[in-house]
Amino acid sequence: MSDRIANAMLRGKVMSAEEAAQFIDNGDKVGMSGFTGAAYPKALPTAIANRAKEAQAKGDSYKIDVFTGASTAPDCDGVMAEAGAINYRMPYQSDPTMRNAINAGEIKYQDIHLSHSGQQVEYGFFGPNLDVAIVEVTRITEDGHLIPSSGVGNNVDFLDSAKKIIIEVNEWQSLELEGMADIYRIQHLPNRTPVPIINSGDRIGKTFIDIDLSKVVAIVETNTPDRNAPFKPVDETSQKIAGHFISFLEGEVAGGRLTYDNYIMQSGVGNVPNAVMAGLLDSKFEKIEAYTEVIQDGMVDLIDAGKMTVASATSFSLSPEYAEKMNQEAKRYRESIILRPQQVSNHPEVIRRVGLISSNGMIEADIYGNINSTHVAGSRIMNGIGGSGDFTRNARVSTFISPSDAKGGDISAIVPFASHIDHTEHDAMVIITEYGVADLRGLAPRDRVAKTIAVAHPDYRPLLEEYVERANKGRFLQTPHDLSTAFSFHERFLANGSMKQA
Ligand code: COA
Repeated sequence: MSDRIANAMLRGKVMSAEEAAQFIDNGDKVGMSGFTGAAYPKALPTAIANRAKEAQAKGDSYKIDVFTGASTAPDCDGVMAEAGAINYRMPYQSDPTMRNAINAGEIKYQDIHLSHSGQQVEYGFFGPNLDVAIVEVTRITEDGHLIPSSGVGNNVDFLDSAKKIIIEVNEWQSLELEGMADIYRIQHLPNRTPVPIINSGDRIGKTFIDIDLSKVVAIVETNTPDRNAPFKPVDETSQKIAGHFISFLEGEVAGGRLTYDNYIMQSGVGNVPNAVMAGLLDSKFEKIEAYTEVIQDGMVDLIDAGKMTVASATSFSLSPEYAEKMNQEAKRYRESIILRPQQVSNHPEVIRRVGLISSNGMIEADIYGNINSTHVAGSRIMNGIGGSGDFTRNARVSTFISPSDAKGGDISAIVPFASHIDHTEHDAMVIITEYGVADLRGLAPRDRVAKTIAVAHPDYRPLLEEYVERANKGRFLQTPHDLSTAFSFHERFLANGSMKQA
């Protein structure tokens, strides 16, 4: 038995994943650790999937509601979705099997801001309690305190709310991660006080999660790596976007709104944001800080290059190679990386205070700057809003970065009217594609149009200009639209497989 379980009482609760899964009943609300392929339970999801398959074989139903920090991995979301074990899912996912099941109407998915998700559990929006919390840790102390593994996410809220607790102790996770987590409980209403983070690197809590030990029903030992998909190699388009993003930052310096040593970044998940970080390596910016949600490969490189002094997040989102490196060198990295509960990493109050510049990917933007981060052609979910809303609304400057087209040119990232709106024109300030920077700050809607069209793919600019001409013939000119053709790009895509005119 692993010496990672120092508490004698909890050592007596070690069992197999199959035995532990017997504590999870049909219809249960289950909160799981896990955030972008890190720190998710490695054994229980398969055991739950097997229970669902066994029940189905007997003609019974076995489905649970799954709450996590954010997306997980194929051996968590994937196996459970594939087995038909999930009824409801929140707050963020990115697994292809799960995505297909959601879009087929087989899984109910609620896409909730990540900073809201744990709080909504605490407020009782899903009922007074979760039934079970399943949380991965790297170690349990003699006192029964949990040392988080490669992410914290909503673990504190789930452990506090759940009637039963199952802990997975994963030997693959480095013991040197101890000290990286900063566990702070936001006080319950009505006695809430300010979150005392003034600078990104402030530590305000404990290095462990204390739990009600009487709720622990099972401990399961695992030895399995986190599983994140590797980032796509930086291509020419991403390189151009990164170049424009850095030029934009330099413009902020020239404008007296930023200095080369006070850039605080938030960077969204995805290939393009990761490419931007690669671009920062060769830039003039120094002493960069991150107050963000996930630690990606690019941030690790910035730390190694001495360009980034501190990175505050809630979880890792590292490629397999970088996850191994983090495990080997966690002792060194914990000097500059802090993992916080996601209510704190994504807290609007702190985001406003530190004055960060946010940068997130998008599916599409419309000519006025409304942003769709989540739905293809209005109805088909890609991943979810994640923390992009938490950061965009509260950033000093909010930016969105994306290639100007997708799917070999059949989809334009700039459209007349966004087919789903996650971030309104009131929140989005700057849109960057490989064609440049659309800085929408200080501009009324009609003055934004020329800027957004200038960063659209050239193939789509005439179609967008034709739309604007039609829209401007309307009676009301604050935000002109021709409602009969506002979704013509999407209609063409659904009918012909391309937004281009036949
Ligand atoms: N229509 C259809 N598909 C689109 C699309 C569009 N308008 N725009 C992008 N895509 C597809 C791409 O083709 C690609 O598909 P593939 O994986 O099959 O090749 C996929 O979306 C990813 O696009 P990519 O260009 O590689 O960018 P990305 O990895 O940066 O992801 C988002 C873009 C929008 C999917 C991603 O940023 C996201 O999920 N954002 C929402 C959550 C968020 O912002 N979180 C950060 C908060 S901290």
